[in-house]
Amino acid sequence: AQKIPSLKDTFKKDFGIGTALNNAQFEERDPQMTQFIARQFNMATPENIMKSALIHPKWDTYNFEPADKLVEFGKKHNIKINGHTLIWHSQLPSFIRGIKSKDSIQTFFRDHIKTVAGRYDGKVFSWDVVNEALNEDGTMRKTVFLDHLGDNYVTEAFRLAQQAAPKTELYYNDYNNEKPAKRAGCIALIKKIQAAGVRIDGVGIQGHWHVGRVPLKDIEESILQYAALGLKVMFTELDIEVLPRNFQGAEVSQRMTANEQSNPYTAGLPDNVQQQLAADYEALFKLFLKYKDNVTRVTFWGVNDGDSWLNNWPIRGRTSYPLLFDRNNQPKLAFYKVVA
Ligand code: XIL
Repeated sequence: AQKIPSLKDTFKKDFGIGTALNNAQFEERDPQMTQFIARQFNMATPENIMKSALIHPKWDTYNFEPADKLVEFGKKHNIKINGHTLIWHSQLPSFIRGIKSKDSIQTFFRDHIKTVAGRYDGKVFSWDVVNEALNEDGTMRKTVFLDHLGDNYVTEAFRLAQQAAPKTELYYNDYNNEKPAKRAGCIALIKKIQAAGVRIDGVGIQGHWHVGRVPLKDIEESILQYAALGLKVMFTELDIEVLPRNFQGAEVSQRMTANEQSNPYTAGLPDNVQQQLAADYEALFKLFLKYKDNVTRVTFWGVNDGDSWLNNWPIRGRTSYPLLFDRNNQPKLAFYKVVA
């Protein structure tokens, strides 16, 4: 077989190239997969295992084993790890639901950040300290943290992370924070952290976009505005959905409408969509290259189409094709446009 070009080598002088990883991958269950990952990527974000529900399942119990393995995997293959994520309203440990007092939330918040960020200082390259704290209109999202700790909690999370992990880069991460209203809220949040004299090194734009509707203008404006705050800008969970939002997929076919049943995507990605996906990725990477002094990392949310969360979201059991590699790690047209 012909050797396919390497993404990380192609963009070596420009920015890091990352992927989301799961247990099977960093446990190296499939040596060919390991080789593929090590050749294509120089950065990685755990898709789930460092989220609080998984790394901190009980009040007094942490499960560090998977994260430790991931760190080893990174060391072995020269892949920098971005910790994801310390404070997020989703995938929280179930015991949080039973907590009703401000003091206990405060204790969880402090202990969790100290323990997890502290343990991996010098072992991970960076942390998404806070994830998705904002609403679409730029106001603070109502979460258990906002409810009990007030809207200073984001600054406090960064302060605690800075103390626990002085050698680790600290980021704020969100989706749609390239859109003007949410971006304005994001900038206000960042300025507040900076005004408190607390360190924030970068901002992550997740980049879950939709084929034919990638908001290039908003993205460009966002790179400029975030960079003007002195921050690194990263695209942290990149994928481009090709399915209509409500398309159900084969496993729930009994609930599909006639229109959905005739949807050609069940038989593979139609050529016109393949072309549009490639054009979208090409335009994105042209933009990233234009701002390579500010854009430090581009991370795909999955190695190949088979890994993608979009096969199961917002509806389970769909077949989606949002990434650069197909289910056999073969490059798609979009891959060749990107490396070219
Ligand atoms: C998703 C994972 O991909 C899924 O496996 C999991 O079931 C739910 O979370 N924004 C984020 C990511 O910051 O952590 C989410 O990851 C996708 C949206």
